[in-house]
Amino acid sequence: MLTRIELLQLADQVARGELGKTYEPKRVILPTEEEVDRYSAFDCTDGIIPQIQNKQDSVLILPTGRTSIGLYRLIREEFQKKPVTLHGVTLFNLDEYWPINPNHPSSYNMFMRNQLFDHVDIQPERCHIPNSAAPNVDEEAKRYQTLIDGFNIDLAVLGIGPGNTCHIGFNEKRSTPSSRVRYVELDSETRATNATLFEDPSEMPTGAITLGIADILRARKILLIAKGENKAWGINRTLKGPIGADAPASFLRFHPRVTFVMDPKAAAYL
Ligand code: GLP
Repeated sequence: MLTRIELLQLADQVARGELGKTYEPKRVILPTEEEVDRYSAFDCTDGIIPQIQNKQDSVLILPTGRTSIGLYRLIREEFQKKPVTLHGVTLFNLDEYWPINPNHPSSYNMFMRNQLFDHVDIQPERCHIPNSAAPNVDEEAKRYQTLIDGFNIDLAVLGIGPGNTCHIGFNEKRSTPSSRVRYVELDSETRATNATLFEDPSEMPTGAITLGIADILRARKILLIAKGENKAWGINRTLKGPIGADAPASFLRFHPRVTFVMDPKAAAYL
């Protein structure tokens, strides 16, 4: 575990874009998607549930997307059995489309309510998602930045973008390690893949608000989950290629406590 001083030093280096030391993320490859979900939920060093049980006021960054659906199902089931409470937990969503009605069925706000918030005892005022209906996107990014800067982050759970996007959150290619919360235009590959999650693809916004790479690297621990063949190229590029802005997920190699948990399809090119 990093000491508080080490974390502050890391955050400082990130903010100055002076990262030098790199690390090998831990790789965990499990035979089925279900086992990937179980590891992400229950593993005693990386899992969300032990994190929450060990520290009831944990602060988490959480993803949306198909990858995370099984994980949220396990958390809901565990909550229904009642050995876990999320009452003291604070959550920050990684990203959200902009502009979109927060009640749109394909908004990330709706996704989080459906998958998690409406089923557990988390306090609504501790669930933070960028406001996708904010009239001024830069003001909203500033508000979200100020909010998250007030917290130490215990665990960031991430997916990885499809194909060769290698995005984390919506940090698309050309994002830098010192990037912060901001509005981004989505890559064409991201748009094409995510449009399939909209009943009417023309309703998908072309932009989003995302936490920056520096905000993600501020977390004490990071867990990246990848499943399926559409992640294989990106996982290989991220873990084995040069660290650089053409593969934003590769910046995770600047952080000393990162685990990649994958199914065999996502790990196929490692
Ligand atoms: C999406 C989102 C991320 C998500 C990732 C994986 O585009 N911006 O927050 O973690 O890419 O999505 P999926 O799990 O649907 O493959």
